[in-house]
Amino acid sequence: MRILITGGAGCLGSNLIERWLPRGHEILVIDNFATGKREVVPPVAGLSLVEGSVADKELVDRAFAAFAPTHVVHSAAAYKDPDDWREDVATNVAGMVNVVEAARAAGVERVVNFQTVLCYGRPDAVPIPVEHPLRPFTSYGISKVAGEQYLAMSGLPFASLRLASVIGPRLAIGPIPTFYKRLKAGQGCFCTDATRDFLDMEDFFAAVDRVMEAGAPSGIFNVSSGEGRTIRDVYDAVREHLGLPPDPGVKVVPVGDDDVPAVVPDPSRTRQVLGWTAKVSFGDAMGRMLSWYDAHGVSDVYSHLSAPKAG
Ligand SMILES: NC(=O)c1ccc[n+]([C@@H]2O[C@H](COP(=O)([O-])OP(=O)(O)OC[C@H]3O[C@@H](n4cnc5c(N)ncnc54)[C@H](O)[C@@H]3O)[C@@H](O)[C@H]2O)c1
Repeated sequence: MRILITGGAGCLGSNLIERWLPRGHEILVIDNFATGKREVVPPVAGLSLVEGSVADKELVDRAFAAFAPTHVVHSAAAYKDPDDWREDVATNVAGMVNVVEAARAAGVERVVNFQTVLCYGRPDAVPIPVEHPLRPFTSYGISKVAGEQYLAMSGLPFASLRLASVIGPRLAIGPIPTFYKRLKAGQGCFCTDATRDFLDMEDFFAAVDRVMEAGAPSGIFNVSSGEGRTIRDVYDAVREHLGLPPDPGVKVVPVGDDDVPAVVPDPSRTRQVLGWTAKVSFGDAMGRMLSWYDAHGVSDVYSHLSAPKAG
């Protein structure tokens, strides 16, 4: 395959590169390094980089025309400043429109998009079925919903995967790296009263591989375990991994107004339509993640792809 990955320098994109490059696929990354890391897109055979924004239509058109992708994985997203609505709209809406138009012109076989489960807003109930009404209430959620809807009406063969919290190499945001870092440094922690669904990187890979297959059904799919875990469960697992005694008195605070108490997407339709199901347990996924931090540290960008040595 010739796979164009937008946002390929990010957490999910870079993990996909590490998975696909050794299998002989040609990969082109478009990334502006807003949150991604240059080190994970080294100059190695089969991997090339266009530095810039998906919001730049000319840049996107040129990249598609030169690379002639067969598949597109749209992983670029803006989210880092909740008050920067313009950037969110430029990347998540206009960027998606640029990618969709260029993919159409290039006649690609498939576009795969990653969607945030914040698209559901504050759900009526959990687990959240994929047909639950969309009620985003943050700039990130609103713009990602618009982007997904443009893709869905594009006529392109596509899959939009509404992802639980994927955990794996280089994860640097959220409760797991935060607790790990603070507890290792002997600092105190508190937990929010939130429930999330955590998905191992291997299960994410299996879902992406499935929707990249020739003839895979188009559509929108929840990609999740369907099982909620509290932030307190995460805290307990990190303590246990670090060999610390249980902390029954840890402070648990209500989630903020900009957050959602429980997000657990229901994967049952995904199982029926794609035959995909999460296989790695929460305990095993946490164990792998925490062992990765033991080896590489929390904000390390270690990638097993390395640039050729000079000389
Ligand atoms: N990681 C998860 O668990 C999760 C869950 C739900 C949805 N998602 C979605 O998956 C995708 C990837 O998420 P991630 O966790 O890897 O985040 P990330 O921040 O690590 O990756 C996003 C990448 O997009 C790049 N980018 C941002 N704006 C850009 C622009 N205008 N043009 C080109 N590149 C740009 C960033 O530099 C970064 O490399 C996003 O679309 C996100 O909404 C991720």
